[in-house]
Amino acid sequence: LAIFSDRKNSQGLNMNIEGIRAPFFNALDELATKAWQAGPIVGGKTLTSGAANAVLSPQDHSRQVGQVYFADKATTELAVGKAQAAFKGWRNTPVEIRAQALEKLADLLEEHQDEFISLCTREAGKLLQDGIDEVREAVDFCRYYAVEARTLMEPKKLPGYTGELNLLFAQGRGPFVCISPWNFPLAIFLGQIAAALATGNTVLAKPAEQTSLIAHLAVTLAHQAGIPTDVLQLLPGDGATVGATLTADPRIAGVCFTGSTDTAMLINQTLAKRKGAIIPLIAETGGQNAMIVDSTALPEQVVRDVVRAAFQSAGQRCSALRVLYLQDDIAERVLEILKGAMNELSVADPALWSTDVGPVIDQDAQAGLDAHLSKMQAAGKKIIAQTLLGKGCDQGFYIQPTALEIASIGELEKEQFGPILHVVRFKAKDIDQVINDINNTGYGLTLGIHSRNESFAEYVAQSIDAGNAYINRDQIGAMVGVQPFGGQGLSGTGPKAGGPHYLTRFITEKTITNNT
Ligand code: NAD
Ligand code: ALA
Repeated sequence: LAIFSDRKNSQGLNMNIEGIRAPFFNALDELATKAWQAGPIVGGKTLTSGAANAVLSPQDHSRQVGQVYFADKATTELAVGKAQAAFKGWRNTPVEIRAQALEKLADLLEEHQDEFISLCTREAGKLLQDGIDEVREAVDFCRYYAVEARTLMEPKKLPGYTGELNLLFAQGRGPFVCISPWNFPLAIFLGQIAAALATGNTVLAKPAEQTSLIAHLAVTLAHQAGIPTDVLQLLPGDGATVGATLTADPRIAGVCFTGSTDTAMLINQTLAKRKGAIIPLIAETGGQNAMIVDSTALPEQVVRDVVRAAFQSAGQRCSALRVLYLQDDIAERVLEILKGAMNELSVADPALWSTDVGPVIDQDAQAGLDAHLSKMQAAGKKIIAQTLLGKGCDQGFYIQPTALEIASIGELEKEQFGPILHVVRFKAKDIDQVINDINNTGYGLTLGIHSRNESFAEYVAQSIDAGNAYINRDQIGAMVGVQPFGGQGLSGTGPKAGGPHYLTRFITEKTITNNT
């Protein structure tokens, strides 16, 4: 087996150490009421024209975190022109300089991690531990792509059988549009940007409208790290205005998108209709992720991993477990322990270290998940367990973590992006039907398997079309450079983020043959 890199991942914060924990909580207290402001950063200037949008916490609508000015069509088009003008200079900048700027950005992210964690909690409703992991992953992306780019962008000498000198060059493509979701407002936002910048593209960054404050701080630090201001510009705003304007622009050279499958389809159509060159779309999208548990599995270990995979981050991870398949002879035992575990979950303010499940991102998300639960109940589906909401949850967008029983994954029309777990019982003889049902959803993101029968686990892992399969553990929290992450089919185009092939989609290749 080839080992791709000996680079080390960042460690994050070890909260078991008092000397780390105490200053961290003091810093969060100081940041708890800070008023933040964001706007488009075009040509190095933050623009504050038009109406400001109030940013309110998902966990409490009375808490204002700051305000954000959105970009309009004219600002967006102006930024594309600047990105186009800056492209050749950045493409011709030595990869070493670009890589060093990204490594400097990683250092700055670590220096500013308290601010990011505070913002992740206040603006995105993330748990503190999720905020810590978010910064760690963003740091890893910057350092990983810096290392990978140094190798990829190196010119390669090819054989010259007739005395010719053949050189293969990797180059940036041009202005790259990076469109990201709110659920990894720093890690995915910066992961896309770091990949595009390392390979010599200029970037038009369009963060999710819900998490513009985090994006603004990240881009400000990127400029401090030495990324030229026209090389990286920020365009916060509505997807239908800023996103659609960017993707329709004939001057752009590529799109890197992470978000819902529906939006990826829209972008694909826009690119197909637009004038200009044929350009790459890297799209990482949603999933209908299953876990299969056979009768040899250890029930306590299964429940620990199910709870983490289905309910951590309030189920708002693309990798999260949506459908748990339990072999019938182990099902009752697992469900009994699961009910006990779900009773113990604390659903509360994500700023408290003791909270297990925080809010969902906004009112639309809450309404969609509520509607799904009502529809399932109206169809006679049995609720197995439901966690009670804690104190103060009526102030925000909370959903009760819920486990309910269905007959097959095929009953679910689309991804439910929240803390809802569907449970299906199966008989050992029907395993191939289960595999077909999962494959027939068309999604292919993550898969969990719990079994002490190695040949069963291997068979299932090989038979299900999932980008990331995990055996005897949970299926969330892929690590950069360790578990390259991304889906197949309706779940994404690849190549995998945090993997050795990701950067290849951001470059164009040129062969120069010299008959010396
Ligand atoms: P979304 O599709 O609603 O929005 C994603 C981004 O697209 C936002 O920045 C949005 O403003 C923008 N957008 C919306 N309409 C657009 C348009 N017409 N043109 C261009 N851009 C447009 O997704 P979301 O709700 O922000 O994120 C949650 C989704 O992301 C879930 O489906 C989740 O599974 C998926 N996701 C996937 C991965 C992965 O790696 N596969 C990772 C995280 C999240
Ligand atoms: N990379 C994220 C995870 O694996 C989405 O949970």
